[in-house]
Amino acid sequence: MYSKVTWIGGLKILEDIKRNLEERRELARRGGGEKRIAAQHAKGKLTARERIDLLLDDDSFEEFDMFVKHRSTEFGMQNDRPSGDGVVTGWGTIHGRQIYVFSQDFTVFGGSLSETHAKKICKIMDMAIRNKAPIIGINDSGGARIQEGVASLAGYAEVFQRNVLASGVVPQISLIMGPCAGGAVYSPAMTDFIFMVKDTSYMFVTGPEVVKTVTNEIVSAEELGGATTHTTKSSVADCAYENDMVTIAETRRFMNFLPANNRSKSPIFPFHDDINRVEISLDTLIPDNPNTPYDMKELILKLSDDGDFFEIQENFAKNILIGFIRLEGRTIGVVANQPLVLAGCLDIDSSKKAARFVRFCDAFEIPILTLVDVPGFLPGTGQEHNGVIKHGAKLLFAYGEATVPKVTLITRKAYGGAYDVMASKHLRGDFNYAWPTAEIAVMGSKGAVEILYKSDQNDPKKTLKQIAEYEEKFANPFIAAERGFIDDIIVPRNSRRRIARAFTSLRGKDLKNPWKKHDNIPL
Ligand code: HXC
Repeated sequence: MYSKVTWIGGLKILEDIKRNLEERRELARRGGGEKRIAAQHAKGKLTARERIDLLLDDDSFEEFDMFVKHRSTEFGMQNDRPSGDGVVTGWGTIHGRQIYVFSQDFTVFGGSLSETHAKKICKIMDMAIRNKAPIIGINDSGGARIQEGVASLAGYAEVFQRNVLASGVVPQISLIMGPCAGGAVYSPAMTDFIFMVKDTSYMFVTGPEVVKTVTNEIVSAEELGGATTHTTKSSVADCAYENDMVTIAETRRFMNFLPANNRSKSPIFPFHDDINRVEISLDTLIPDNPNTPYDMKELILKLSDDGDFFEIQENFAKNILIGFIRLEGRTIGVVANQPLVLAGCLDIDSSKKAARFVRFCDAFEIPILTLVDVPGFLPGTGQEHNGVIKHGAKLLFAYGEATVPKVTLITRKAYGGAYDVMASKHLRGDFNYAWPTAEIAVMGSKGAVEILYKSDQNDPKKTLKQIAEYEEKFANPFIAAERGFIDDIIVPRNSRRRIARAFTSLRGKDLKNPWKKHDNIPL
């Protein structure tokens, strides 16, 4: 039995330990100190911890390695060893679902990556892979910790290796919320989606100064690698948002569409939208003139639960639309030609954009809805010389290898090779529907007549008759339906019900490709 004196003494020691622990925690939470935190806020940026607080559900964050310190002794670094070493790591939940997270702290050595900083990131990546939960990385860093030299480079490579191993196992999302330069860009580049913050984030392999020295080009950081550049020109990033708060809010919304890993299904969300909803306006979506464009986004919104569409790469290769919707509360990946831009033609950029998306959906068991109105591949030397053959093949390959449920709806044109590419029956489409307005043919009527009746070119009356004949014969979905390439011709207003029922019927789909180490997609 303890005497009263011993018990009080023990309590005091416990109190001291608790106080000591709290003081140490408080020190770690202060990061690089108030001045640097104020500087971060002055730039319109949140701190690493504020970002995690907003990203994760209240009180769900469990931190790892708060007391980790770097071991560097060069450049007087032994006298400056802040707890946490410039990155906050751990796990928590988003809408109750587990997420691993790291958030670089720009207030500590500019968020630069040291050996120990890298180890902290690797630890949570390893745990995410083992426990099969997504990883969200918040990047705000001056790159390799200059004082650590090759140890820092080694740290990056360790992170890169884990990005590769995690790819296709758990979703990896990168938020770029400050600098991300040099080789550091390659970690986010290997993740599934990159969201950037406008005006306060940038990504480039070599910065404006190096560019100026090497190529004499004068360019600002924003122009070289800001959010607008990467979401409109390079397509390195998938979405750009106004500020940290909007980016984090959208990330939370986005995560609701994704499964935790490649073995589990996406979450099922409550929806308040009748699955039998008849959408009369769709009967007149297709204009009378086959060359008049219309907005395919209208169809996506009218099909989806509650009109909710999370569009990805909205401002790049606008001739194709990609993103997530829900049908009966379940996530569906959508790929759709957009007749408003380049008449919905496939080209290099749109093929690459859609191919990567199809592969993501397939890797994570997300069914794919393909909406087709495509007059073919974009012609021209620009396309041919830049490899439209190889890049177009990416989309063909991606659809061909995908084993997830695939439902396709042809609304209007499905011409030539592009008909085959866009999740046709021949690429193992499960349900291939067409509207009565569909035109499934080798090419458009004018082009076909020019080739078939070359000698009659000088007789416009005859040509018009030939065009009318061709249209009558081929500009419809019935010939494809006769062969069973189209499973049914559906009334536009019923599309939501028919498509949702198709996906429902495919919930038990079990299709496997032949064993291989991996495929050799034309990269
Ligand atoms: C150590 C760094 C650092 C780094 C910034 N800091 N970058 N410390 N290593 N790489 C420190 C600064 O010394 C400063 O410390 C604090 O972070 C904030 O930096 P500032 O320059 O005051 O901030 P700002 O004006 O906003 O400029 C941010 C910046 C700039 C543009 C990122 O710091 C910068 O250019 N840093 C170097 C970037 C770089 O070249 N990194 C290496 C890239 S190569 P104090 O104590 O004053 O607050 C690379 C290779 C990776 O990363 C290879 C992987 C294979």
